Amino acid sequence: MKAVKIGVIGTGSISSCHLQSYQNNSNAELYAVCDLNEERARKAADKYGASKVYTDYRELLADPAIEAVSICTWNNTHAEISIAALEAGKHVLVEKPLCRTVEDALRIQEAVAASGKLLQVGFVRRYDANAQLLRSMVDKGEFGELYYAKATTIRRLGNPGGWFADKERSGGGPLIDIGVHVIDLCWYMMGRPKAVSVSANTYRKLGNRSNVKNLSFYKAADYDPSQNTVEDLANALIRFENGASLLVDVSFTLHAKDNEGAVKLYGDKGGFEIDPEMVIVTEKEDTILNIYPQTDHKGFDFEGAFQNEINHFIDCVQQGNTPISPVEDGVEIMKILCGIYESAAKGAEVRL
Ligand SMILES: NC(=O)c1ccc[n+]([C@@H]2O[C@H](COP(=O)([O-])OP(=O)(O)OC[C@H]3O[C@@H](n4cnc5c(N)ncnc54)[C@H](O)[C@@H]3O)[C@@H](O)[C@H]2O)c1
Repeated sequence: MKAVKIGVIGTGSISSCHLQSYQNNSNAELYAVCDLNEERARKAADKYGASKVYTDYRELLADPAIEAVSICTWNNTHAEISIAALEAGKHVLVEKPLCRTVEDALRIQEAVAASGKLLQVGFVRRYDANAQLLRSMVDKGEFGELYYAKATTIRRLGNPGGWFADKERSGGGPLIDIGVHVIDLCWYMMGRPKAVSVSANTYRKLGNRSNVKNLSFYKAADYDPSQNTVEDLANALIRFENGASLLVDVSFTLHAKDNEGAVKLYGDKGGFEIDPEMVIVTEKEDTILNIYPQTDHKGFDFEGAFQNEINHFIDCVQQGNTPISPVEDGVEIMKILCGIYESAAKGAEVRL
C-alpha cells in the first residue's frame, strides 16, 4: 500500500513524539512540517527528513500531496487548524485537548461529518499497551460494572510557563493540560458513560512557585515567571447517567511532599490500578488477590503509546476505519472539562 504523506503542524516539544513515530512507520512518509518559528520547523525537517517547510499552516494545507496532518500547536489553535485541514480534505490527528470550548468542539465535529475525513484525538493514554490489555479485560466483564474511579496527577512544582500558563492560549491550567489525560482514561475504561453533572473547585493560591530553588522542573521554551493566569489546582466529582462516579484532582503546584500519579477503577467483580503501576484486584476462594501482570512496562510507556497512536492513525487512514479516540469522544471530554471550570466558577454543581 502507498505510504500516507504526512504534514506536522507545530514543531515544539511534543511534535518529536509524532515525528519519530511517523519515521518508524513504513506506511507513513514524513513530507512537510510547519511552525510559526521557522528555525524550529527547519531543525525538525532536517532531523526527521521532511522535504517541505512552512511557517503558515494554510500553505501547508494547500499542498495537494499531503493526505494527513498532526496538529501539535497551542490549544487555542486546534479548532481553527483542524477545521481548515478537514476542509482542505486532510485526515487529522489533533493533540489533546481537542480545543478550549464545547462550541468549538461541536464545530470540529460538524467539519468531520461534512468532510468525510477522519479525526483522531491524541488521547495517548488509551494507546498504551497496558491500557489496551485492561480495556479488553473490562470488555470481557472481568471487573463487572465499573462504578467508581479515582484519578490524581499532582505536581508540587510543575507549571511549565509559556503558553501553558496563559489561559487565553491554553484554555486553562493543570485540568485541561494533564487532567484531561486521566479523566479520559478513566472514562474510556468505564465504557464512556454519559456525564450528567459535575461539582468542582479550582484554586489559584500558590501561583507558579517560581521562587523555589534547588529543584528543577520542565519549562516551556518561552518560560516567563511573571506570566501566569491559570489555576494551580483543580478537583472534581463527575457523575454519570449509569450511576458511576469519577473523583479527580490535578495540580501544577501544591504543598505536597512529592509528585503523585494514581489512576484506580473499582467494579463489582474486581478492580484495577493503571498508575503508578498496573495491578488487578480480585477475589477467589473467599480470598483477595492482588495480581501484577507481567508486561514490558509496569506503568505508562510514553514512547510505546505514541508509536501505537501514530500506527493506529495511519492504519485508520489506509483502511478507512474509525479511530478508537474519535471526535465524538473529544466533544464529550470537552463537555466535562468545561463543566468543571463552570462549576468551579459558580461554586455549585452544574448539570451537563
Ligand atoms: N499527548 C501528550 O502527552 C502531550 C504532551 C505535551 C503537549 N501536548 C499537547 O501538544 C500541543 C503542543 O504542546 P507542546 O508541549 O509541544 O508545546 P510547545 O510550545 O513546545 O510547541 C508548540 C509549537 O506550536 C507552534 N505554533 C503555535 N501556533 C502555531 C500556528 N498557528 N501555526 C504553526 N505553529 C504554531 C509554536 O511556535 C511552538 O513551536 C498542545 O496542545 C499540548 O496540549 C500533548
